[in-house]
Amino acid sequence: MRSRWAVFGLPLVALLALGLYRPEVPLPSTRPLAIVFGSEINGYITPCGCSKPMVGGIPRRGTLLRQLAEQHVLLKLENGDLTKAGGRQDELKAETLIEMLNQMGYDALNLGKYDFLLGIDYLRALQMQFKGAMLCANVQEGGSPAFEAYTLVEKSHNDTKLRLLIVGLISEKHAESIRARNPQLSVVPAREQLNALRPQIETQGDVRILLFYGTGEEAEQLVRAHPYFHLVVYANAGDGPIPPKQVGQTRLVFAGNDAKFVGIAHLSDGAPYAIARVEYTRLTEDFKDDEQLLAIKLAYLARVEAENLLAMVPRRPTPNGSGFAGSRACMPCHAEDYRIWQRTAHAKAMQTLIDEKHDKDPECVVCHVVGLEYEGGFRSLEETPALKDVGCESCHGPAKLHAQDPETHRLGKAGAQSCMTCHVPAHSPGFDFETYWKKIEHGFKK
Ligand code: HEC
Ligand code: HEC
Ligand code: HEC
Ligand code: HEC
Repeated sequence: MRSRWAVFGLPLVALLALGLYRPEVPLPSTRPLAIVFGSEINGYITPCGCSKPMVGGIPRRGTLLRQLAEQHVLLKLENGDLTKAGGRQDELKAETLIEMLNQMGYDALNLGKYDFLLGIDYLRALQMQFKGAMLCANVQEGGSPAFEAYTLVEKSHNDTKLRLLIVGLISEKHAESIRARNPQLSVVPAREQLNALRPQIETQGDVRILLFYGTGEEAEQLVRAHPYFHLVVYANAGDGPIPPKQVGQTRLVFAGNDAKFVGIAHLSDGAPYAIARVEYTRLTEDFKDDEQLLAIKLAYLARVEAENLLAMVPRRPTPNGSGFAGSRACMPCHAEDYRIWQRTAHAKAMQTLIDEKHDKDPECVVCHVVGLEYEGGFRSLEETPALKDVGCESCHGPAKLHAQDPETHRLGKAGAQSCMTCHVPAHSPGFDFETYWKKIEHGFKK
C-alpha cells in the first residue's frame, strides 16, 4: 500500500483537490483478516419462504460478506454438500452455487458426502468452473488423489502478508456412499492421509486450517493426533451453530448447515497466530438480498423452467386407483364446502408460487398443487388448470370415480394425518391441527 501511495500519491492528491476522484468504497488501508466459514448448504440457495420470518440464503450471505469486507480482509471457506442429492435439479443447483461462490470470491470448497452423489465426472466439471480450490485430500482414483489435498492462499492481515494453508478431508465413514455412486474411487482414512501429508502441512503456512467433512467428535480425535491446525471447521452437526471448542492450539468450529448462519473467525493481531474470537451471524431479514446473487438465482429458475423439470417428476399410481377430478367438479354436490375452500389460503397456493417465481420449480409445486407425484395429477397450468392449488383431493385423495358415482366410490376419512404430507416442520413450523383446522373447517352440510 505504501509503495503505491508513493507512486500515485501526488497525482491522486491533485485529483482529490479538484474533486475529480471519488473512490467508490474507501477501504481502510490496513485491515485485519477474518475467516468466514459455513458447512453444508444442502441446496438452500434461498429459504422457501413458507413461513415467516425465515433465516438464511446465499443472497443475504453476499450482503453480509460485502459489509464485512469494508473492515476486514476475508478468507472465504465452505465445507461440503452444495446440494443433497444427485438429480438434474441438484446439478443445476450445484452449478448455480459454484457461480455464486465465484461471485463472492470464495477461496476453497471442501467436498462432502452428498457432493459425490453428483458423480466424479460432474464434480470435475464443477471444479473447472470454480475459481477457488476444490479440496478433498483422501479420496483417490487409481491410487492418486482425485482432488487437491490442500491449497495455499496469501492474504494480508493488518500490514503483514500471511500464507494460509487450507486442507480438505472427508470422514472415511462416508466411503460406502461415495463408492456406491463412484466405484472407481477409494477413501483413505482421514487420519492416515494426514499422517502422510504431515511433513508438507506442518511446515507450510503461517495459519493452518482444516475443512473436515465429518462430526465434531471425529474432528477432535484428528486434532489430538495432529495438533498443528489453528482452525478446524467440521460438519454433520445440525442446522444451528455450536459453541467453538479449544483443543490445544486448535479451535473447532461449526456454523450450522442449510446456509442459515455464517461463521466468522478472527485472528490474533500478531504472531504466534491463534484464533482470537469466533462469532456466528444469523442471516435474518435484516440482511437484504445481494442483487447480483439474486440475478444468478433467477437464471437458475429460468433453467429449471427451460429444462421443464416439472414434467420429469416421477409418478406413481394413485392408492385408490381413481384419477383426479379437480375441486370445481365437487361443487355441484358439495357447494358449501367448495365455497369455504375457495376462501382459504389453499385456494391461492399456486398464485403464491407465481408471485415468488417458483411456479415451474418441482421442489415447490409438489406441495402447492394436487397430485404432482401421481399419475393423472397436476402437470402444468396449461395442461391441468383444474389441479392447481391445494384442492379438495390434496386431502381427500383422488376422487374422479367418487364424483361420477359417489355411492359406490366412497372416500373415507381424510383425518389429521392428511395435513402432514405438506405441513412438515421445515415448511410449517407452527402447525397444530386444532388451530389450523379451525381456519379451514368444513363438511357440515352437503
Ligand atoms: C413440504 C411441502 C412444501 C414445499 C416443498 C413447499 N411449500 Fe411453500 N408452503 C407449504 C405450507 C404447508 C405452507 C403454509 C405454512 C403455514 O402457514 O404454516 C406454505 C406456504 C408458503 C408461502 C407463504 C404463503 C403465504 O401467503 O403466507 C410461500 C411464499 C411458499 N410456501 C413458497 C414456497 C416455495 C418458493 C417453495 C419452494 C422453494 C415451497 N413453498 C415449497 C408447503 C410447502
Ligand atoms: C354427484 C355428486 C357428487 C360429486 C360430484 C362429489 N360428491 Fe362427494 N359425496 C357425494 C355424496 C352423495 C356423498 C355421500 C354423502 C353421504 O351419504 O353421507 C359424498 C361424500 C363425500 C365425502 C365424505 C366421505 C365419503 O366418501 O362418504 C367426501 C370427503 C367427498 N364426498 C368429497 C368429494 C370431493 C373431493 C369431490 C370432488 C372431487 C366430490 N366429493 C364430488 C356426492 C358427490
Ligand atoms: C398438498 C399440501 C397440503 C396439504 C395436504 C395441506 N396443506 Fe395446508 N397449506 C398448504 C400450502 C401450500 C399452504 C399455503 C398456501 C398459500 O398461502 O399459498 C397451506 C396453508 C394452510 C393454512 C393457512 C395458514 C395461515 O397461516 O393462514 C391452513 C390453516 C392450513 N393450510 C391448514 C391445513 C390443514 C388443517 C390440513 C389438513 C387437514 C392441510 N392444511 C393440508 C399445503 C397443504
Ligand atoms: C386441507 C385438507 C382439506 C381440503 C383442501 C378439503 N378438505 Fe374436506 N375435509 C378435510 C378434513 C380433515 C375433514 C374432516 C373429516 C375427515 O377427516 O375426513 C373434511 C371433511 C369434509 C367433508 C365431510 C366428510 C364427512 O365425513 O362427513 C366433505 C364432504 C368434504 N370435506 C368435502 C371437501 C370438498 C368438496 C373440498 C374442496 C372444495 C374439501 N373437502 C377440501 C380436509 C380437507
